[in-house]
Amino acid sequence: MAAKVISGVEVAKQIRAEIKAEVEDLKAKHGSVPGLVTILVGENPASVSYVTAKQKTAKELGYYSIQDNQPADITEEQLLALIDKYNNDPQIHGILVQLPLPKHVDETKVLYAINPDKDVDAFHPVNVGKLVIGEAVFKPCTPAGIQELLIRGGVETKGAHVVVVGRSNIVGKPIANMMLQKAVGANSTVTIVHTGTKDVAYFTKQADILIVAAGKPNAVTADMVKDGVAVIDVGVNRIGVTPEGKAKLAGDVDFEAVKEKASLITPVPGGVGPMTITMLMKNTLESFKYSLN
Ligand code: GUN
Repeated sequence: MAAKVISGVEVAKQIRAEIKAEVEDLKAKHGSVPGLVTILVGENPASVSYVTAKQKTAKELGYYSIQDNQPADITEEQLLALIDKYNNDPQIHGILVQLPLPKHVDETKVLYAINPDKDVDAFHPVNVGKLVIGEAVFKPCTPAGIQELLIRGGVETKGAHVVVVGRSNIVGKPIANMMLQKAVGANSTVTIVHTGTKDVAYFTKQADILIVAAGKPNAVTADMVKDGVAVIDVGVNRIGVTPEGKAKLAGDVDFEAVKEKASLITPVPGGVGPMTITMLMKNTLESFKYSLN
């Protein structure tokens, strides 16, 4: 079987069109729009490019958006004061502090300072806790994008065995928690494998849905999956340079070989990646709608 390759670019475009229409509708009714601030400390090139993409999308969707650039030597106290300012700004519904932060700033302290009601990354422990008990207002963006791809890709999740490769706080743990909830796009049996697992292939071969966030190329090869599996590849690995001088990317899955056995697979680039920013916009919209109540 050759897999259906599901384009995150296309699905993201569809969701953005839905968001844009809803924002226009809410603006007409209430005279206000969702507001997002992205705080960037320093000039890390990858962070600059992520933040630029987030701001560009926010503007395209009609959001009120602020790009707040701060110098790399900002003190922790100054950064906390800045967050406090946005916590109290009624035009701002989402606050995102781009990570990583410089070493002299305590990242945990900064993330905990964001009002959980404006924590559109869903990194605050209050939001992590709500996710675990099935009461999430915000779902972390990459896992939310994965779930949306499964739903819109027509993958049956109820009763499916989902195997998650990787246990990070940003992807592995939250997606595992989300897939086991009694909810639409979930209700699955979930296994997590990680670097401490003795026989990873023993588990991945049992997966109906395989979500791979291992952080290394070819972490999953064709001999590790069963026929008909739906594969979501979260990996983004720089494996070289294209003739045009751009970074050449690969996922964590041996795409060409696994595609021949799977029923559905996401490409890298163009799979989960485009979904992440879209789900950030969705969270900001949810926060805005909550503020209208
Ligand atoms: N740095 C890399 N990914 C992310 C993300 O999803 N959110 C934030 N705040 N920083 C990041």
